[in-house]
Amino acid sequence: MSIRSTGGGVNDVTRFLSTGGGLGSPTSNATPFSAASQADWAAKRLVWVPSEKHGFESASIREERGDEVEVELTDSQRKLTLSREEVQRMNPPRFSKVEDMADLTCLNEASVLHNLRERYYSGLIYTYSGLFCVVVNPYKNLPIYTESIVEMYRGKKRHEMPPHIYAISEAAYRSMLQDREDQSILCTGESGAGKTENTKKVIQYLAHVASSHKGGTSGKNKEPVQMDGSRSLTRGSTLVNKSLQYGELERQLLQANPILEAFGNAKTVKNDNSSRFGKFIRINFDVAGYIVGANIETYLLEKSRAIRQAKDERTFHIFYQMLCGASEETRADLLLGSADEYRFLTRGSVPVPGQSDSENFTQTMDSMGIMGFTPEESVSMLKVISAVLQFGNISFMKEKNHDQASMPDNTAAQKLCHLLGINVLEFTRAILTPRIKVGREYVQKAQTKEQADFAIEALAKATYERLFRWLVHRINRALDRRQRQGASFIGILDIAGFEIFQLNSFEQLCINYTNEKLQQLFNHTMFILEQEEYQREGIEWNFIDFGLDLQPCIDLIERPAHPPGVLALLDEECWFPRATDRTFVEKLSAEQSKHPKFFKSKQPRGEADFSIIHYAGKVDYKADDWLVKNMDPLNDNVASLLHQSSDHFVSELWKEDIQTLPRVYFFDSYATLQTNGSDMDRIVGLDQVSSGESSGPVTFGAGLKTKKGMFRTVGQLYKESLTKLMATLRNTNPNFLRCIIPNHEKRAGKLDPHLVLDQLRCNGVLEGIRICRQGFPNRIPFQEFRQRYEILTPNAIPRTFMDGKQASELMIRALELDPNLFRVGQSKVFFRAGVLAHLEEERDLKITDTIIHFQSAARGFLARKAFLKKQQQLSALRVMQRNCYAYLKLRNWQWWRLFTKVKPLLQVTRQDEEIQARESALLKASEKLSKVEQEYIDLDKKHAQVNEYCSVLLPVVEEYMMSLTAYYLDMSCSVSL
Ligand SMILES: Nc1ncnc2c1ncn2[C@@H]1O[C@H](COP(=O)(O)OP(=O)(O)OP(=O)(O)O)[C@@H](O)[C@H]1O
Ligand SMILES: [Mg+2]
Repeated sequence: MSIRSTGGGVNDVTRFLSTGGGLGSPTSNATPFSAASQADWAAKRLVWVPSEKHGFESASIREERGDEVEVELTDSQRKLTLSREEVQRMNPPRFSKVEDMADLTCLNEASVLHNLRERYYSGLIYTYSGLFCVVVNPYKNLPIYTESIVEMYRGKKRHEMPPHIYAISEAAYRSMLQDREDQSILCTGESGAGKTENTKKVIQYLAHVASSHKGGTSGKNKEPVQMDGSRSLTRGSTLVNKSLQYGELERQLLQANPILEAFGNAKTVKNDNSSRFGKFIRINFDVAGYIVGANIETYLLEKSRAIRQAKDERTFHIFYQMLCGASEETRADLLLGSADEYRFLTRGSVPVPGQSDSENFTQTMDSMGIMGFTPEESVSMLKVISAVLQFGNISFMKEKNHDQASMPDNTAAQKLCHLLGINVLEFTRAILTPRIKVGREYVQKAQTKEQADFAIEALAKATYERLFRWLVHRINRALDRRQRQGASFIGILDIAGFEIFQLNSFEQLCINYTNEKLQQLFNHTMFILEQEEYQREGIEWNFIDFGLDLQPCIDLIERPAHPPGVLALLDEECWFPRATDRTFVEKLSAEQSKHPKFFKSKQPRGEADFSIIHYAGKVDYKADDWLVKNMDPLNDNVASLLHQSSDHFVSELWKEDIQTLPRVYFFDSYATLQTNGSDMDRIVGLDQVSSGESSGPVTFGAGLKTKKGMFRTVGQLYKESLTKLMATLRNTNPNFLRCIIPNHEKRAGKLDPHLVLDQLRCNGVLEGIRICRQGFPNRIPFQEFRQRYEILTPNAIPRTFMDGKQASELMIRALELDPNLFRVGQSKVFFRAGVLAHLEEERDLKITDTIIHFQSAARGFLARKAFLKKQQQLSALRVMQRNCYAYLKLRNWQWWRLFTKVKPLLQVTRQDEEIQARESALLKASEKLSKVEQEYIDLDKKHAQVNEYCSVLLPVVEEYMMSLTAYYLDMSCSVSL
């Protein structure tokens, strides 16, 4: 992996991309890949075992007994006996902090969690998992979104750079340009996981690389714009605030987010800037790859937030921004009070840490200016916001002696009607005694306090929703540049991810249904890509389309008939007399009881009404208020009034086909059922719905209501918009981003393992891995395979040159692998999950063996040398010891001391003795000498005497000899004769 340095400071920054930067968790026990850890892994047979605290804990296998395994925990050395399924294999250390988790040879939950955790603690928040890019919210500003990083990713392929949202954006952009194929980037995850932040980064990247505006020289573009053009809720950012110059369209595109966030985001317990709607931003490009326009579609705005908020939560930002930031003059115009004067702001104003509502108000207004909103439009919007607040201050009383509601104080109503440009008397009448059709005639029907309260809240919600839709429509108008032809697009989907709460309601069903479909798209894409890869490599493998796995659950929700699914039954129930949420549940249970994905608790008083088995697990649903939520009834008397408002903006908001509105009678029937069980109005309602005719032109909101004059339930509308979205997505090349929230305390450097595991399950990462495991997930090019594992088959390949494929085949044959565990393709070998771990293990054993041999020889030599030395030291030590011992013993012994004193004197005595001895020896020697001399003289004399005798005797002997000779001669002569 090479990261191109683009100047000062970049190298420092890249440690947040490819090597440990460190979020500094004290609990991090990251072990860098080293020979030691590799040896440790092989020797100890490390595995993962479930742990309460860490999700999974490292342990080593002690003993395997049938289905049971005895392990010893690495940290605490505690021994445990577990069933074999509970133990998950650990990857060899060479897979530590891998950038793509699909490369892991042991593909299991524990390894995925471990890898994400290790990377997260090292500051590496992005990780691939096959087709997915997983990002863990860092909850602090990392310097990885600067202009220089954008430049680093520009023009690079995905595998050339470390994982990043820019890499995904770049891949989508390049693929769009090269293949002329529309692209989509799907960001999902639970609230606070970082979907919106990453969506902004994608837009920021595209605005930078695909801007037709070159440089920043134009005078009107001089003011600095943040990299992503928006305010960041993360504080203390310095590097991200790098200012850039964009073209006008790009600037408007970047400004769309702050406006949408002001009106559609709110502070929740999980996220200070939580998007309470889903969105699909489509950025259009021309053939040259320049941005030519954009379009935003929104889904499921949580409009109920406008009237009620949970503890420590707020309504949409714009309410507080307006109350804090509006000038005195505007305040007077809009009849504004302070936050605690409004009933709909249930908690007054809860502050958002690090944010100033009044500053943000100025920013929102500036953004609207950049977007091309006229000042009149902005004021009109604020007026409607003020009106929504005023709706909440209208209060009703129950009249004495009958149920009818009355409005003793109409100050709030007056203010409301002033703001909305309608007549207060007509409004009061429409609320308290609306005209409804009974049979063929219209009658005025007095409303109870509950009905009036409900109507007011429904109107407030509907007003806010219409305002939001108008806003999106207006932004789209600004971003729509028809004059330049769009050739292809990149769509970015930022939508709530799958979540499992204890009990789930209608909205969650819609979200989970969406995610089920998105997961199906993912599974299908993966299937297609896998199949392509297998075909390219010429491998025989019958892959199953895993998208089909999800079809039964999708059918259970959306099927229109035979048998009808949840949504269809809910719609059907809305038209039925005496229908309640209970009857809906009963009907659903009767129709779907045998469905494999449907589950109804046998306990009559169970908390959940029914459960659906989604791909991520079983989800319990509670059907309270589903009928009302699906109908979303509205007082059409007031709606008509608003439609006829003297304020052009308000009448524009309510210009929508009035006939398509869910009428007051729906609410009426609902409320009646709750109170006295009469079904008169309901039957009338049914009659009207079926005969409803369209009137008036279809305006900005009409996109959702396709069939004019027909009332559509919320479920139907949502299903339609989802079907449209899915059709769009299916025609694109999808890129998947999965966002993960690491903890619920919004703290940097803390990762709650169970929370992350749940999300990995919900957002399909584990599902993706399950699919991976069905095929041959590990793929190694021939060359790499040979280089790494040749050690296992030392004599299999001849020394001469051999082609990579042939060599790999020979090696595999020598390894005696089961044919089902591998496939040999055209350029790589494919392995089933876990096979590489086995090969790694074998390789380690082999290397360990060799090293051990070498080590033992070296150690033997050193040990022997050391031993010899030690032995010598030992004997020396003994001598020293002995001496010391003797010394210590004698040191204080008086005799010895005396002896030591006397000893030198003894030495002198002995010298005399020695002299004497020597002198006597000398004496003896001289005596001996004189004796020898005397003997010599005697002998000499004797010798002289003998010589004398000899001289006398010699002539006699000679004479005798001569006579003897003569005799013999005579004798011999006589014998011969
Ligand atoms: N990449 C990031 N860098 C720094 N901070 C981030 C990053 N991603 C998310 N955050 C922090 O997390 C907060 C929540 O992120 P975001 O609003 O994108 O979540 P979300 O998934 O859109 O949630 P929701 O579904 O509630 O809208 C941000 O306000 C920001 O403080
Ligand atoms: Mg969001």
